[in-house]
Amino acid sequence: MSIAVIAGDGIGPEVVAAALPAIDAAANAAGVQVEWKQLPYGADHFLSTGETLPDQAFREIRDCADAVFLGALGDPRVPGNEHARDILLGLRFKLDLYVNFRPCVLLHPDLCPLKSNSQTLQRTIDFAIFRENTEGLYLGRGSVRNEGTPEEERIAEEVHTYPKVSRIIRAAFEWAEANGKNRITLADKSNVVPAHKLWQRLFDEIGDDYPGIDGEHRYVDALAMEMVREPERFEVIVTNNLLGDILSDLGAELVGGLGLAASANLHPGRAGLFEPVHGSAPDLSGKGMANPMAAILTGGLMMAELGHHSSARALDSAVREALSVGMTTPDLGGSASTSEVADWIAAHAREN
Ligand code: NAD
Ligand code: IPM
Ligand code: MN
Repeated sequence: MSIAVIAGDGIGPEVVAAALPAIDAAANAAGVQVEWKQLPYGADHFLSTGETLPDQAFREIRDCADAVFLGALGDPRVPGNEHARDILLGLRFKLDLYVNFRPCVLLHPDLCPLKSNSQTLQRTIDFAIFRENTEGLYLGRGSVRNEGTPEEERIAEEVHTYPKVSRIIRAAFEWAEANGKNRITLADKSNVVPAHKLWQRLFDEIGDDYPGIDGEHRYVDALAMEMVREPERFEVIVTNNLLGDILSDLGAELVGGLGLAASANLHPGRAGLFEPVHGSAPDLSGKGMANPMAAILTGGLMMAELGHHSSARALDSAVREALSVGMTTPDLGGSASTSEVADWIAAHAREN
């Protein structure tokens, strides 16, 4: 397998350097060899060369890589975030990775920040967010008038089209069916944004093809409330690009925080882009304190997607074991460093 690696900015290179040996350990234990091709793109490269993601590099990724593994992008020295837009959004759009799959699974009961409803309630949070990844507000369409004056006006266009809304909704139903889920929740704000009505129409139409799955609708504000009140009831949430971005950080926090949240950008049959949900965390950068588990679990999603299910399970189990013995970074209350946690997980992934 040949994997293109964009470590990126801030804690990106730290969690990537920690995660790759753990992923290798799980792969090698299953007889799989991974060839990592490190690419230099990120803020440093942009600031020194003016390049974000050159066309040639994009074509190589598209034509030669089995997947892309990305750390994080975002740097205070690039306040306009041009490089992240070209590299991260660029790869999502140009590779047409229309499914942003963000699972929220409680890997250890102590990680949930919510108080239980009763003494006996054992929380079992396990849902997946399907975030549309190729349109919505993320196209960045719009206009600016009278910039820098008291009459400044900025207009952002939110785009929802039949084929793109259809395919993400269908992907969510397909995954639900394949994974034995009974309920899908559609989130939008169609009471205020009429463009969101297309989602409800297509959700109902496509839902008819899946009679075993109960489709329900929530306005996103009420959904956010309900995710906190009773996260157990959700199985699959499907929503647009911006709302999915926001809900996935909320979902992450329900199960232990951004240090544990993995994600995959997918187009079935094509090379995917795998990245933790978290960003470059400039506040933690260079301190050896970043939690590498999100990157390692993201490696697990990548191995599963590439068909190496035993390696994926080994990574998942090793992370669960690390959590149960308290081998964690400070965000989870532990005192281990990024590399200590990752090395421990690598050693256990080898044995699993
Ligand atoms: P962030 O996710 O970087 O950090 C939010 C909070 O979570 C911070 O307190 C941070 O310390 C903590 N955190 C994040 N990852 C952690 C980890 N692995 N271990 C422990 N704690 C962790 O979000 P932000 O501060 O809003 O953004 C910082 C930069 O990252 C911005 O430039 C933003 O645009 C970018 N960003 C990039 C991506 C990406 O590349 N996929 C995702 C989100 C944000
Ligand atoms: C994410 C990030 C990105 C997004 C940013 C950095 C462009 O927040 O992957 O969740 O908004 O999609
Ligand atoms: Mn985000």
